[in-house]
Amino acid sequence: MTDPTVYLHDSFIPLSEAKVSVLDRGFIFGDAIYEVIPVFCGKMFRFEEHLSRLNNSLNSVKIPNPYSSEKWFSILQELITKNSVDDKNAEPLSVYLQITRGVAPRNHVFPENTKPTVFISANPLATIESSILEKGVAVVTMDDIRWQYCQIKTTSLIANILLRQQAAEKNAVEALLIKNGFVTEGAASNVFIIKDSIIYTPPKTNCVLPGITRDLVVELALELKLNIREEAIPQQLLDNADEVWLTSSMKDILPVTKINNNNVGTGLPGPLWNKLHQAFNNYKVKLCE
Ligand code: PDD
Repeated sequence: MTDPTVYLHDSFIPLSEAKVSVLDRGFIFGDAIYEVIPVFCGKMFRFEEHLSRLNNSLNSVKIPNPYSSEKWFSILQELITKNSVDDKNAEPLSVYLQITRGVAPRNHVFPENTKPTVFISANPLATIESSILEKGVAVVTMDDIRWQYCQIKTTSLIANILLRQQAAEKNAVEALLIKNGFVTEGAASNVFIIKDSIIYTPPKTNCVLPGITRDLVVELALELKLNIREEAIPQQLLDNADEVWLTSSMKDILPVTKINNNNVGTGLPGPLWNKLHQAFNNYKVKLCE
């Protein structure tokens, strides 16, 4: 069995030897921030953007950032190299990094002078099978029961987990969340809705995680001179959509062809999805050149 290298307590060690105290506030309270960064041909995808979101999340919960950007870059790159068989033709990876407030006796109030715990792993990133892209995926809508700081990428994900589990039990790949009659995002993805050739995605408020993939899709749509609007999406628009897409670091752009067992548009991935998916793949190819 392989034993990947992970980074914990300022060292690169085998996963089998990685141990954290049970008093770590990440374990006790979910008092922690995380990031997921895709890696293609050994290069991190949009590193600066991920780091900037990491900084925003840490600032929001007042956990000090233990490292400079340069240090983050060098640790992550070293971990990627240690977990890649061949640098040039490396398989896609996803780097998971988590920073907790550290180890302290259990007390809701922040401890003083506690060193944050940093854990990083690099895991194989499964490419989406072409049969899934040809058919699209099914989702179900659910009430957005999460809290009011969804822009923070925290490991306190119990609401997201409950929603995603309910979706899985209904054979759906994602729970599409509705808050006060408006679409917010998926339990672990952002959402785009297409109606009459206009692409809509919710604006970056406290109701959504500002997705790195989302931002790239917005950029690519603008480059392609497509009509894209960042505005609140009433559920009615979702119900009558021509196309619906999900975006995330783990899924790229995924076409949704069924919502609550009803077809979206023709019931197949649409022409605008094809365009953006192609542009997204071209962007990845350039990254590797
Ligand atoms: N989740 N919204 C939520 C709630 C998310 O958890 C995610 C990503 C996104 C998409 O963000 P990005 O494009 O930066 O991956 C939107 C990650 C992948 C996860 O929790 O595993």
